[in-house]
Amino acid sequence: MKRPQFRGTVTALPPDKSISHRAALIGAISTGETRIENFSAGEDNQSTLSALLQLGVSIRQDLSSTRTVTIRSNGLFDLKPSQTPIQCNNSGSTMRMLAGILAAQPFHSTLVGDASLMKRPMKRIALPLSQMGAQVTLSEADTAPIEIRGKKPLSPIAYQTPVASAQVKSCVIFAALHADGTSEISEAIQTRNHTETMLGLINPDSPEKPDKITVRGLNPIEAKSFFVPADASASCFLVALALLSKSPELVLKNVCLNPTRTGFLTILADAGARVQTDHVRTISGETIGDLICTNLSLEQPLRVSDKALIANAIDELPMLAVLSAFATGEFELYHAEELRTKESDRITALVLNLEAMGFVCETFPDGFVVKGRKTISNKKIHIQTFNDHRIAMSFGIASYFCNMELALDNPDCAAVSFPNFFSLIEGLKQS
Ligand code: S3P
Repeated sequence: MKRPQFRGTVTALPPDKSISHRAALIGAISTGETRIENFSAGEDNQSTLSALLQLGVSIRQDLSSTRTVTIRSNGLFDLKPSQTPIQCNNSGSTMRMLAGILAAQPFHSTLVGDASLMKRPMKRIALPLSQMGAQVTLSEADTAPIEIRGKKPLSPIAYQTPVASAQVKSCVIFAALHADGTSEISEAIQTRNHTETMLGLINPDSPEKPDKITVRGLNPIEAKSFFVPADASASCFLVALALLSKSPELVLKNVCLNPTRTGFLTILADAGARVQTDHVRTISGETIGDLICTNLSLEQPLRVSDKALIANAIDELPMLAVLSAFATGEFELYHAEELRTKESDRITALVLNLEAMGFVCETFPDGFVVKGRKTISNKKIHIQTFNDHRIAMSFGIASYFCNMELALDNPDCAAVSFPNFFSLIEGLKQS
């Protein structure tokens, strides 16, 4: 196996996608001027801004190094109807969380997306929003287009999310902010908690899983400033690069280390690859710090089946699977059926491409295992990304450690969350 070295201190990881989405949406329903420093240039986050612009929100984006976005709003009910369907492109977060706000506006909205988003399940948000009094209609397959006739105000709800999904939880929280009473939202398995943190609904000094998130509706939200740290999910690709190259030192600066996002670090540490952290501090309730990757290696294959850990590593599972297959020839994943509902069916996408490279896999409804590798004579393997950024980036990392060429059918889709992915990695490569 060829093994190039990568070295350096990375200060230009993309700003966190989840936090950027939420900061913009919260800005659109706050009273006054919201200032978001280090907003992501990723296509998904730009989709949230363009969707809000369609709804008449006042947004200024400064493209200089601080990447500051300024949003002005008069509060919870300041959106204007869009004359055309609201375009969410590839972004499930935009569609699902914005739907929670639109459910309470006194007008009709239609939400649409690209071919991938139009196939993703939306009943999970239609049900609670309908219970709160909005009229929500989906396609026959329970997908977008989502037609929403809003009800102002919504009725409060007591809701436990039936799937481990931060987008569903956040959709209901956004709707509950517009309800004429107190809502209680809970989840059996904790998912990323940025929405409740950023809205001040949990105590930053004791952020352990709350039994219920209590939302008092129709309370004005005062505009404030947000700082967006580097994306935890993006950092996972660089950690994998450090591990597979056995690089002596790769430092990732100012990464979001919210424990509901760092399941991948726990999974790696449990298998012997311990990433060190440094300069850990809290900014606006979010834990931020540097990741120090020094001579990482896996002592055993990754075997992932803990539901709580899966929820906190859901977007990192593709990279972890490819990483484990490459490092040890083996991998095991169960209880991850949610992976089939992402930008692509990620279980199918991973297995198909790993098998094309000679790995021997067995697939289950909720996961798959990699059991070893056959020698194959092909010198060039076509990788099908399914236009899914995380599939493209996972195999993009693998391509540096193969004795064969990996030809990705759409490497550019990395820009959905990580616009300069390939050039950043090239910049770290030692000749
Ligand atoms: C996200 C939640 C997750 C994740 C997605 C971002 C969020 O989706 O996969 O990339 O920002 O809330 P689900 O809520 O569908 O699990």
